[in-house]
Amino acid sequence: MAGYLTTDKKKITSTQFIAMKRAGEKISMLTAYDYTTAGIIDRAGIDGILVGDSASNVMAGHADTLPITLDEMIYHARSVAKAVKHALVVCDMPFGSYQISREEGIRNAVRVMKETGVDALKIEGGAEMADTIKGIVDAGIPVMGHLGLTPQSINKLGGYGLRAKDEAEAERLLADARKLEAAGCFGITLEKVPAALAAKVTKTVGCATIGIGAGNETDGQILVYADMLGMTQAFRPKFLRVYADLSAVMTDAVGHYINDVKTKDFPSATESY
Ligand code: KIV
Repeated sequence: MAGYLTTDKKKITSTQFIAMKRAGEKISMLTAYDYTTAGIIDRAGIDGILVGDSASNVMAGHADTLPITLDEMIYHARSVAKAVKHALVVCDMPFGSYQISREEGIRNAVRVMKETGVDALKIEGGAEMADTIKGIVDAGIPVMGHLGLTPQSINKLGGYGLRAKDEAEAERLLADARKLEAAGCFGITLEKVPAALAAKVTKTVGCATIGIGAGNETDGQILVYADMLGMTQAFRPKFLRVYADLSAVMTDAVGHYINDVKTKDFPSATESY
């Protein structure tokens, strides 16, 4: 496991993501939603932490990302930002917080920055969001775009399948990526798109592409931490690599604890006052 613990404790900035792309250094990202987990992930040396609106699924147990509120995202983002010393912390703007108008998007973006201490925001959508994104960037806030499978539009998309399989959608996605770059995005998440298209987008734009289910040619990768640590049992898409079985570890530990309580093994004399 050599080489994954960082000795460089300087805070990573959004402009560094672009520098890493130019230098050909791959960018590692994971999600986190709470102080304790974010601290563990940060100390392992990750480059970026996304306070994803997947908190809606992972933390709150909702079926999709639509119900999570701006106040709830602010609570998660503040907890993560407090723990992180090294990684760039990006917070998802939740559904409904930027779609209504450009002005409301900017106001809510400013609120997240003021109240959480995160370093950047992520916004789903292409050309239709470019004007809002430009306004947020002009306010001094780094923005990461999000193309391909955009879960906040799941009801319009009709499912969580691979996006941009046909040429027309692939061309549209490439044009959207150019628009997001022109709007000032420092990065673009590419979710569930063919590897060849993700590679083409990565070569075309100057901002850093972060893939999830988008092959190996993006500038970086992101996974949901609970999925890659084996905490979520039912979710096993093809793109996911599971690095641990924390679900089994936790179940086993809890089982031992229950047994120790029932048999009066715990607490022992040395664990008592
Ligand atoms: O909310 C999230 O976790 C995300 C990642 C899947 C990229 O947007």
